[in-house]
Amino acid sequence: MTGHDPLVKRSSVSMNQTIQDFGEQWVRYRDNEGYYGSLELFSDILSPFLTPGELKGCKVGEIGSGTGRIVNMLLEAGVNHVVAVEPSDAFYVLRENIRQPDKVKCLKTTGDQLPAFGDLDYVFSIGVLHHIQDPIPAVEAAFKALHPGGHFFVWVYGKEGNSLYLTFLMLLRMYAKHLPHVMLTSLVEMMYWPLVFYMKLCHVCPLPLREYLFAIFEKMSPQKRRLVIYDQLNPSFAKYYTGLEVEKLLLDGNFKDVRVHHRHGYSWTAIGTKPQR
Ligand SMILES: C[S@@+](CC[C@H](N)C(=O)[O-])C[C@H]1O[C@@H](n2cnc3c(N)ncnc32)[C@H](O)[C@@H]1O
Repeated sequence: MTGHDPLVKRSSVSMNQTIQDFGEQWVRYRDNEGYYGSLELFSDILSPFLTPGELKGCKVGEIGSGTGRIVNMLLEAGVNHVVAVEPSDAFYVLRENIRQPDKVKCLKTTGDQLPAFGDLDYVFSIGVLHHIQDPIPAVEAAFKALHPGGHFFVWVYGKEGNSLYLTFLMLLRMYAKHLPHVMLTSLVEMMYWPLVFYMKLCHVCPLPLREYLFAIFEKMSPQKRRLVIYDQLNPSFAKYYTGLEVEKLLLDGNFKDVRVHHRHGYSWTAIGTKPQR
């Protein structure tokens, strides 16, 4: 044994690249305006497992905070304290965007390094685990940060029901994830109007992704819709989960009472509980 594992090396190279991709993305797209950063969208994400009202007074963590969109939603929901973990160069954007900084502790690190506080009521990871090649250490860190009876809530991209879209996306991503920002924004612009037309068509035909387009995409501003397209194409690593894979991820992290929900036919939310001793 030399201690040199090429697989581990390759996976950490890709992890660093994905974090770098997000650093560049969030320095360019800093704000969380409109429906994209609203409590209304947060309610939609949490449903049917939680309501924002249940978080009032809680002490929570968030793995992968980006520009602080979810942190501000948590604050608006009335949490007492948030530990926000973000490893990318956009860490300073996160700090600038936080509305009640006295209630938030920001850590510039990866999710697996979330300290084992052992007293958090909830840990959230929204739109993050699907960008980590080996997410188990982050799930284990969430487990250790919670108190017994605390909950881990995740949202990830879904595989089921998206096969046509995913085939198209995978082909496009092979090329798009290597593009510089200016070319990627041109590609986004080329896709934007056909997508708006497709969304209108969904009002008359039962086309794939229609539930997501009506429930979420249509409510966003044109600027945030473009960001959503950019976000699909930019990160080096993205995995699309089946419901069973999400459930297994939380069970492998020792969570109990794991429940999964197929959200708007395109993604999965899941919640698990750290058992009482
Ligand atoms: C799609 S963004 C989601 C941001 C935020 N949760 C939201 O919903 O607005 C994914 C975030 O995860 C972060 N990330 C990537 N790898 C990570 C890791 N290993 N640990 C923690 N965060 C990570 C990225 O830097 C990025 O800001």
